[in-house]
Amino acid sequence: EGQWVLMATGRSPTNIAVIKYWGKRDEALILPVNDSISVTLDPDHLSATTTVAVSPSFPSDRMWLNGKEISLSGGRFQNCLREIRKRARDVEDEKKGISIKKEDWDKLHVHIASYNNFPTAAGLASSAAGFACLVFTLGKLMNVKEDYGELSSIARQGSGSACRSIYGGFVKWCMGKNNDGSDSIAVQLADEAHWNDLVIIIAVVSSKQKETSSTSGMRDSVETSPLLQYRAQTIVPNRVLKMEEAIKSRNFESFARLTCADSNQFHAVCMDTSPPIFYMNDTSHRIISLVEKWNQSEGTLQIAYTFDAGPNAVLIAPNRKNATLLLQKLLYCFPPQHNDLSSYMVGDKSILSD
Ligand code: PMV
Repeated sequence: EGQWVLMATGRSPTNIAVIKYWGKRDEALILPVNDSISVTLDPDHLSATTTVAVSPSFPSDRMWLNGKEISLSGGRFQNCLREIRKRARDVEDEKKGISIKKEDWDKLHVHIASYNNFPTAAGLASSAAGFACLVFTLGKLMNVKEDYGELSSIARQGSGSACRSIYGGFVKWCMGKNNDGSDSIAVQLADEAHWNDLVIIIAVVSSKQKETSSTSGMRDSVETSPLLQYRAQTIVPNRVLKMEEAIKSRNFESFARLTCADSNQFHAVCMDTSPPIFYMNDTSHRIISLVEKWNQSEGTLQIAYTFDAGPNAVLIAPNRKNATLLLQKLLYCFPPQHNDLSSYMVGDKSILSD
């Protein structure tokens, strides 16, 4: 009966939605009002790394985020822990002489340590990577055998967008029809190798934390925005089909057009909310103008842009040539000494140092 510790470690990148999730039809289960589609980033850049440990000497479940202890008492953590524990199986580690029976997991406590390899304060979506990683790594520790679809529906209960970070590449979160959320899962549309010419650049416009959390913003939009209803019922179903087709055929023109339109409509819904929500700022608007002018002068789309619940721009180039040109334009419009924008290269660091 020596004191033992058993550990598992995992890493999950964040994802960027190109068709946005905005609005819940069930807040407790986190069921969305529309399907969404995202691209998962390369794990070397914006990702969470989580180690989970279990030991009979731990008197309670505890968690540290970037080295600081955080509370696990929130419903979202509790839902993820409960759903994984429910599916836990026997674990045998002969080398260490550890044997955990299925029914033992209810009595054992876990310690969780998670790190983001990007500044959490930068206002970049970190809950998607964090909850996907937590669910995946707990599942590994507890020998959970469920498929990725099932794991995605557990991650969804931590943070909606987290369900899409269970897979790499292009991912669709199907809203589902059931009231219990059993069919509200993520599926992979194409793996990370499918369209690897794309270069994603994140321009950090502000490192301040966002003023309106996505949870309260979505609630207000669902309650007050007539545009949200129209978007969810009439616009998004069509857009999702077109986006799937664009991804399948690697059609950048169509992909970029849909991505920009959907970002703009999401922010229009925010503006249509009472009281209105402003996530983008003047710098965000200047970046949109820069891209729109360039796209118009070429007659074809050179860059796609998308903005989440904050002012930072996610810019997607079809190739390295356009990514390089974009960085030149950004540096020209926002000289580094102004200090209000620094480019953050994801997917191909070398372009920055060229
Ligand atoms: O998963 P949440 O609650 O952080 O919401 C994410 C919402 C957006 O990032 C704005 C859109 C999306 O689909 O990721």
